[in-house]
Amino acid sequence: MTNLDTQELTREVVGRFTDTPDQRLRTVLSSLVKHMHAFAVDVQLTQEEWLAGINFLTATGQKCTSTRQEFILLSDVLGLSMLTVGLQAKQPVGVTEATVFGPFFVPDAPELQNGDDVAQGAPGRPCTVSGSVRGVTGEPIRGAVIDVWQADEEGFYDVQKSDLTKAQARGRLRSRDDGSFEFRSIVAEAYPIPTDGPVGTLLEATKRSPWRPAHLHFMIQAEGYETLITHVFKMGDLYLDSDPVFGVRPSLVADWVPQADGTTVLHYDFVLAPAQSRPSVR
Ligand code: BEZ
Ligand code: FE
Repeated sequence: MTNLDTQELTREVVGRFTDTPDQRLRTVLSSLVKHMHAFAVDVQLTQEEWLAGINFLTATGQKCTSTRQEFILLSDVLGLSMLTVGLQAKQPVGVTEATVFGPFFVPDAPELQNGDDVAQGAPGRPCTVSGSVRGVTGEPIRGAVIDVWQADEEGFYDVQKSDLTKAQARGRLRSRDDGSFEFRSIVAEAYPIPTDGPVGTLLEATKRSPWRPAHLHFMIQAEGYETLITHVFKMGDLYLDSDPVFGVRPSLVADWVPQADGTTVLHYDFVLAPAQSRPSVR
């Protein structure tokens, strides 16, 4: 037993992972410890600050429920979620860019037909959304499973409304034989990410805005293709350059075009990457 200086302590902790059978786990944990120790040295972390950090993470965990994931929100506002999106295998030219998943996806959304109304009573200005799903050589992808979800004009997803007993502004449809799809919905509007938890406290303490630019979420899955998780953002939105979760990509910005009859039309064509065989994570 010896007294360890800072560098020796880091080496000693990393050394304790030597016998980890899972090599990927060993790599990840060793790197995590090295970077965490380097961070503490860099800022000369005090014990009070260490405890404040522990309390913050504890509150973050305590805020989580089956419909609220405060840790993902924390990862989002620290840019870690978008960083991992960017670290995914490089996609072929022309493939639609991915962005953050966000916390409001619900599996088993209502099954809809092309032309149906996704809004299902959610308040907002009516709009029609159409587009296509294709592969990189332009081949139409038929039967692609298209999940869409969005906030209403008051900035809330259906899962945030405790008095609502059915899905609103979300649904699942399939692309037609020529790869096209179409549905009715409401115009996407900007909204603030939830600020009633520790992440809100962090944003307030750092004078950061919680407002996300208006967007419509898509997840598109098709046999033989990579699953695409993305949004389409509204052109001209005030918050495109200050998204609190860093999700905006210029290629994902599109025009909701006003029509003479007072409705609005959005058209967006998606391109999926061919399925890749990649090494498993472990
Ligand atoms: C969303 O767009 O639904 C979202 C994404 C990240 C954090 C919060 C909300
Ligand atoms: Fe959203």
